[in-house]
Amino acid sequence: MNALLRTKSIHQVMKQPSDGEGHHTGLKRVLGAKDLIALGIGAIIGAGIFATTGTAAAGGGGHLGAGPAITLSYILVAITCGFCALCYAEFASVIPIAGSAYTYAYVTLGELAAWIIGWDLILEYAVGNVAVAISWAGYFASFVRGFGIHISDKFMTATTVSLHEGHGFAMNLPALGIVLLMTVLLVRGVKESINFNNFVVLVKLAVLLFFVGLGFVYVEPSNWNNFAPNGWEGVRQAAAVVFFAYIGFDAVSTAAEETENPEKNLPIGMIGSLAICTVLYIVISLVMTGLAPWNLLGTADPMATALEIVQGRPGLSESSQKILGFSHFVVTIGALFSMTAVLLVFQLGQPRIFFSMARDGLLPKFFAAIHPVYQTPHVTTILTGVLVAVAAAFMDIAIVIDLCNIGTLFAFVIVCAAVLLLRYRDGRKSDSAVRPYNLSANITLLGAALLVVMGVMSPRLSTDQVTAIVCAPIALWVGLAYRGLPLASGRPFTAPFAPFTPMCGIFTCIYLMMQSPVTTWIRFFIWLAAGLVIYFVYGMKNSVLNHAEPEVSDIGFRSPSQDPEATSEL
Ligand code: ALA
Repeated sequence: MNALLRTKSIHQVMKQPSDGEGHHTGLKRVLGAKDLIALGIGAIIGAGIFATTGTAAAGGGGHLGAGPAITLSYILVAITCGFCALCYAEFASVIPIAGSAYTYAYVTLGELAAWIIGWDLILEYAVGNVAVAISWAGYFASFVRGFGIHISDKFMTATTVSLHEGHGFAMNLPALGIVLLMTVLLVRGVKESINFNNFVVLVKLAVLLFFVGLGFVYVEPSNWNNFAPNGWEGVRQAAAVVFFAYIGFDAVSTAAEETENPEKNLPIGMIGSLAICTVLYIVISLVMTGLAPWNLLGTADPMATALEIVQGRPGLSESSQKILGFSHFVVTIGALFSMTAVLLVFQLGQPRIFFSMARDGLLPKFFAAIHPVYQTPHVTTILTGVLVAVAAAFMDIAIVIDLCNIGTLFAFVIVCAAVLLLRYRDGRKSDSAVRPYNLSANITLLGAALLVVMGVMSPRLSTDQVTAIVCAPIALWVGLAYRGLPLASGRPFTAPFAPFTPMCGIFTCIYLMMQSPVTTWIRFFIWLAAGLVIYFVYGMKNSVLNHAEPEVSDIGFRSPSQDPEATSEL
């Protein structure tokens, strides 16, 4: 039992350990604030806005469409991610170490929780990349079709889908190819990859602004008349889908060990990229649904579809026709570039999580090897690349997106909970006699009461009721525990209004998780169960904490700059 709950101290994780044979296992610190914002935008804007927005607005795949109110879905998810980004930023500034939520859980919740979250993050990074690679392949096929090249369905269809439909063996070759290409780039070096990312981010922003600028001219306000055709139900179901469009801001934290001045730059990178993408998404979704009737947007390339519909309007001048025709090409190029950047950043993130887990002994040590020339974690990069490439060739995108969403939301819940726990322990250890009035704790208690009302008023065992049943006791405990707790201080970055903010993060993420179909929940639990087996067979026995010298736990917050030993080793 002790093994499952053992935590690493911040002091321990801030040390750059060797690989046990005296080799330095640190990564090169080359990234600044601008690089990180670009990294975040690179990870965020991709298949979500370019592909899933249409079906989220029009409905399909077992969920209702939001209609033009898709904009509200984007706002709802932005608020959810905003709460979580603040928690991520707080952690990332205190523990600027590769590994993201995995490392945060190790410091607060213990080794078992850390393993579960590390395993769960594979759903976000690797499985998310499978979805993006499949979407990329769709746009690629459409791009080359413009030049008269037609890729046969045999080389464009997922194996599982083709076999299921009785069409025999097939595989998605472009999806496989692009992932392998990204892998080669990433083994060569982070700085090179980041330069490529910075360039791609400029291209994607230019294309999106082009779409907004051009689209604005042709918006037909009557398309917004039936703003929310399926009411709140449609908005929240669409929110569970467009969540995919926001995934990625947290990937910034996986580059922590390659960041200069990480205490300051990581929060800027995460919150900055999320804010920029939120504004863009709100404007784009408004323009898109203003261009064409919402129920016609349920295609794989909704932006191009919206422009095509405008092109078909009677009475357009010849020059307008030409510009709109050209814009289709521009949007396809933008989508391809955007998704390439997402692939790049996620392929950068996943190996670094494996790398951290291997360094902790939970995965075999050779995973933590660093390339002698390029100084990148090449073993985990190649392993991730091969696994993602093969899965992208074989798997169905709808299943993959659902799994990615639920896994990522779960990771967000853990990070918010970990912030709450860390601050609570920190406050309890404080010898300050001052017990300030904590408004946020009292508002959290009020929230707990509202959740009880929500649980009572909702239909029996509806998703709302389950959300309320799960969240009300947590909010009650948090509100009571934080009343009179000494406030945290001296941290490089703190999420404002704690415990209210992290609690809202937990609530909104669980709310979105509850919108997932039952089959997704079953797949998610099977995945977690497989992870537990690996932990008990391998990780628990090989954890470096088995051999660690006992340390006085220093779970409280402390900035690296306040920890001379840790800083000197950065
Ligand atoms: N947010 C990323 C995308 O939309 C995963 O492609």
